[in-house]
This record gives sequence, C-alpha cells and structure tokens, in this order.
Amino acid sequence: MSTERSNKFYIHTFGCQMNQADSAIMTALLVQDGYVPAENEQDAGIILLNTCAVRENAVERIEHYLQHLLGMKRKQKDLILGVAGCIPQYQREEMFSMSPAIDFLAGPDTYRTLPSLIRQVRAGTRASSLEFDPAETYEGIDPLRQGAITAYVPVMRGCNNMCAYCVVPFTRGRERSHAFSMVLEEVRKVAASGYREITLLGQNVNSYCAPDTALDFAGLLDAVSREVPDLRIRFTTSHPKDISEALVRTIAGRPNICNHIHLPVQSGSSRVLGLMNRGHTIEEYREKIALARSIIPDVSLSTDLIAGFCGESEEDHQLTLQLLSDIRFDAAYMFFYSTRPGTLAARTLEDDVPDPVKKRRLQEIIDLQNAISAELLQEAVGSVVEVLAESESKRSAGQLMGRTETNRAVVFDRQGYQPGDLVRVLITSATSATLTGTPA
Ligand code: SAH
Ligand code: SF4
Ligand code: F3S
Repeated sequence: MSTERSNKFYIHTFGCQMNQADSAIMTALLVQDGYVPAENEQDAGIILLNTCAVRENAVERIEHYLQHLLGMKRKQKDLILGVAGCIPQYQREEMFSMSPAIDFLAGPDTYRTLPSLIRQVRAGTRASSLEFDPAETYEGIDPLRQGAITAYVPVMRGCNNMCAYCVVPFTRGRERSHAFSMVLEEVRKVAASGYREITLLGQNVNSYCAPDTALDFAGLLDAVSREVPDLRIRFTTSHPKDISEALVRTIAGRPNICNHIHLPVQSGSSRVLGLMNRGHTIEEYREKIALARSIIPDVSLSTDLIAGFCGESEEDHQLTLQLLSDIRFDAAYMFFYSTRPGTLAARTLEDDVPDPVKKRRLQEIIDLQNAISAELLQEAVGSVVEVLAESESKRSAGQLMGRTETNRAVVFDRQGYQPGDLVRVLITSATSATLTGTPA
C-alpha cells in the first residue's frame, strides 16, 4: 500500500555535524509518530529545513531556498513547511517574516514537539516551539541515521564559551553532557547495527563531563574505544583549553582511536585571540600542538580560521600565516569574519576590517594552506595506508572512496572490496584534496 504524500516528510540538513545528528533524531521522532521518510522533496507532504546561523551566507542560503519552497507551495497547497535548528532559535518568531511559506518553527531543544507542531498547522495556525531546555539530551530516542558505515554519536549539546564572534551559544543554549550510560548504550547499538566508525560529537567535545559518573572526555573516549574495539573512533570538535595529556595519551594508547585532532585556532595572534575571547594565547595553543606531536608523532591536525576579525591588523594577519607555515596542518576550514547580531563582538567591537581586505587576507590564508595540504598529500605517495571504504567513488563504480585514520580521502580500485571494509591501500598519486591508490 502506498503511503499518502501528506504523511511523508523530507528533511534538508544544513550546517555542522551536530545538525546532521539532530536530523537523525527528528527522523526518529517523526517515524515514532507514524510519519514516513520520503525519498525526495517532491514526494513529501512535510518539508523540514534544519538550518545553520553561524555566518551570514548560511542564512542567505536558507532565504534563497525558502523562495524555491514558496514556489512549490503555490502548486501544492497542503504542503507543510517547518524550519528547525539554529536560525529560528536565534531569530525566534521574527523568522516567520522571512517567508509566507513557513508554517512552523522549532529549535534544537524542542524536537519532541514536532508532531504537535504539525497538528497545529493542520488545524490552521502557524506554530512555533522555541524554548531552551537545558536538560534535553534526547535520551531514549534512537536516531535514524543516513548511511550505514559511519555514525555520529553526540555526547553533549550546547556551548558555555562565549567566543566573541560566535552565535552558537545563542542558538544551542547551555552546555550539557549526556549521561555516560546513555553514550555507551548508543555506541553499542550503533555497533550492533553494523556501523564501522563512530564520531563522538560536541561543540567542545573534550569539555565532556559525565553527569552520572563525572568521567572526563579522556575517560569517555577510552571507555568507548574498549566497548567497540573493532570500530574506528573519531571525535570533534576539540577546544584547545581542554586538550590534556591524559587525552593525548588515550588517543595514542588505543589502536582504534583515530590519530586525528581537529583543533580550531581561529587566529595566529594572541591579541586577536584575546579580542575573540578564546581563553588562550597562541603560545598556549602551540604548546598543545607540541604536546600532541611529542606523544603521537604522526598525529594529523586540522583547524578552523577566521580572517578579518574586528581589530585585526596586517601584522596579526601575518602571524596567522606564520602559524600555518610553522604547524603545517593537514587541513583547515577557512572563513572571513561575518558579524552575527547579538554576539559579544557585534555588541562591543567594531567590524572595522573592510570587506575587500577580509577577502584578500582569507585568499592568502587559503592559498598558503592549500599549498601545504598539497605538499603533505604528495608526501603520502608511495606509502601504504589503511582506508575504511565508505562508498562507491562518485566517478566510477570500479572505485571506492574511503578515509585514512588521519581523515584523508582516498579513492582506490575496488578489486572486490565493499563499503565497510578496512583496506590497505598503496598510494599512487595525489591531487590537491584527494589521494588515489590501489589495494596493496
Ligand atoms: N564549536 C566549534 C565550532 C564552532 S562553528 C568550535 O568551537 O570550534 C565552526 C567554525 O565557524 C568556527 O570554528 C569558526 O572558525 C567559524 N565561525 C564561527 N562564527 C563565525 C563568524 N561569525 N564569522 C566567520 N566564521 C565563524
Ligand atoms: Fe562558538 Fe566558541 Fe562555543 Fe565553539 S567554543 S561553539 S566557537 S562559542
Ligand atoms: Fe551552524 Fe548551529 Fe552548527 S549555527 S555550525 S548548525 S551549531
């Protein structure tokens, strides 16, 4: 029997891994209430956007998407459109004025109310549910994930830091760690479902502190890696202030924890880090990197950078370039500063670096980092690496795509292997972002 379109839903996920994990929770909550996932937007009677507010262009993307959905709604009068995630949480009911197409709004802590929001819309009203609930961890919900090889497992929600540029504390509320028992149970279920890799997630994952056992993140990571010794374990995002020697020793000591740390630095200048309210100097950051490298010599490091923050001088920018040359990160996510209304920076600092200067500095950062990433990839040619095959390669079914422990993408000849297999691959060539190889 085919399911009525009105009963089918489709979720578009924008933003970070946390939003992807939340979409899996929303899917579970809707399925629990009798709704059915649609293959695509055209088949759905309910469309949900799970949105990101971190930069202005993320919000612009949603504005454009809403125009497209308004067109769809004109043709399909009973289509229900909900906007969830970080933008409605931040803009609250004002978001309704963004588009007449929006029927309901939900924030990161209110997904349990989705069925009731849909019922209110069907009864003829626009509805919203935007309360913060500092106790909500979605305990008891089994996320329905996309994909079958790698799974995200959130271990905390929210953020208590007040980085001056950042909207996340306003969109996701107070930091709360999930119970240790809850994380372990989810990890066991993920392993039993056949997943091969788990990424523990949190805005500051290494600030984890178990509410039930007071275990810290090093303890959690150790316990998780022992619980599922055949699965690869990753974690993101780490905050420099909470990189401890115990954590680095845990990564080094457990073979199934990937030797990769994503450690956002944002700027190479202590003065700018101070303005950003990051809570550490660049010397302290360099010490954390030195600690990681002294215990795990081949550790892979990646970072986030913001160009053109308030008050950033040419000299500060040069310090960022110097940091990149010194550390030689494997990869970096690089952005130019975008003011977010309501943040500490928007309220107390002047957005005084002109746009063309921000963009030029960002380009210099990107050019330098791309050259470093390409050199590091080139150095991998001729080596044999262990790759977890994730999917068929986009270019050909005769090749698989996977990742190394150090999070590098590798495309290799299939030779009978399947997604989910761990394969030793000889690297034969490298482009700027991908390694290519053949089973060794
Ligand atoms: N919780 C993580 C990620 C936060 S958002 C962390 O603490 O690192 C991801 C990245 O977006 C940040 O690391 C930062 O580099 C960037 N970012 C956040 N706010 C921004 C803004 N207003 N303008 C430009 N980039 C921003
Ligand atoms: Fe934003 Fe800073 Fe929290 Fe990361 S640690 S989410 S950058 S406020
Ligand atoms: Fe964006 Fe919200 Fe994640 S603002 S980066 S989706 S926490």
